[in-house]
Amino acid sequence: MAKHILVGISGGIAAYKTLTLIRLLVKNGYEVKVIATEHALQFVTPLTIETLSNNKLYVNMFEVNQERTTTHIALSQWADICLLAPATANIIGKIANGIADDALSTTLLAMNKPVFFAPAMNENMLNHFAVEHNIQVLKEKGYIEIQPKEGFLACQQNGKGRMAEPEEIFKVLDDYCSSVYKNMNIKALVTAGGTREPIDAVRYIGNSSTGLMGICIADVLADYGVKVDLVIGPSALQTTNKNVQRTNVQTAAQMLDVCQNKVDTADIVIMSAAVADYTPVYKFDKKLKKQEQNLQIQLQPTVDILKTLASNKKENQIFVGFALETDHEIENAKQKLHAKNLDFIVLNSLNDKGAGFETATNKVYIIDRNDTIENLPLQLKQDVAHHIVKRVLNEFQAKIKPQL
Ligand code: CTP
Repeated sequence: MAKHILVGISGGIAAYKTLTLIRLLVKNGYEVKVIATEHALQFVTPLTIETLSNNKLYVNMFEVNQERTTTHIALSQWADICLLAPATANIIGKIANGIADDALSTTLLAMNKPVFFAPAMNENMLNHFAVEHNIQVLKEKGYIEIQPKEGFLACQQNGKGRMAEPEEIFKVLDDYCSSVYKNMNIKALVTAGGTREPIDAVRYIGNSSTGLMGICIADVLADYGVKVDLVIGPSALQTTNKNVQRTNVQTAAQMLDVCQNKVDTADIVIMSAAVADYTPVYKFDKKLKKQEQNLQIQLQPTVDILKTLASNKKENQIFVGFALETDHEIENAKQKLHAKNLDFIVLNSLNDKGAGFETATNKVYIIDRNDTIENLPLQLKQDVAHHIVKRVLNEFQAKIKPQL
């Protein structure tokens, strides 16, 4: 369940930039609903807003909604935070003076959650005593201003009044939402990369996992203030985040050993490592010499680290596994989810182009304990990591129910 952001669009040319912002929010795992004023729809179309937000657009006050309650109340209750972008002089003036004459202004009066606003207007309007006063009123009442910037304005002049760029607004909202987790002292154990099972002094059984997916997950968790223990098989990739404590291992047995020592203090366990399922029964100390006849290497199963640790799962711990499948993907992944006692399983299908090992991208399905499947688009592993981490942190937050 993503964090809910209610976006209010009022009638200014900067509304076109709000579309990019909505896209960024959705891409990063937020659920977005939009209320637009009639004037806003002179600049951007309902179809674009609904397509990007993946939700119905609200414009009309008197539309009956499914919850059979008044729309403005339902939306204000649904939202965790609200953003007004662009915030025109008109909507700022209405809110500062308690005027509620359309869906957006009425919903804002009913909101008792944090409201961010990004003013956008001509410089003279911005400097008008009434607008200055109204902005001040909003700020004094706890609204958070995302300040307009200097630059080229729609009125063909240079000056202050350009709405902040979508990336900046996104960062303000994302930082705000993630700061909720920063003070919670959350710990995570993440595994990444492939293991190497030695055959002799120089040869091993391994796989081509680079560790990138797991490193991205560790980095995103760390950005949220989570203290991460990363246990990783041989990988050329670096980790620099100071919240990530890295332990390098070679074999499945070593990975098990390290994880067993760290699992008790972890709130979240995410195992993305491609652990070898078999290891040679004998390891030759020296390099094996070439011989004429066939060489047989006897293999024995390794311990399933995830299954072993999750079988002792504590009440508030969250366990996430990965599944790499080539056929009956969903069925196999669901089976692993339940057999290993997990909260989520992240499925990679090798039939999806751009998914799996040695790519910068991934295409995954996230399946939860109720067998609900979230089908994510092909995207960079960093973005996939964001999505997984948001789901997990939301689940964690719901389990321990702290105050927002
Ligand atoms: N896993 C593990 N220890 C192992 C094998 C797998 O911790 N010895 C974890 C992986 O890190 C992953 C999940 O279990 O999170 C599923 O791994 P996968 O290889 O897809 O499944 P297996 O259970 O090994 O089954 P199979 O290889 O038969 O598909």
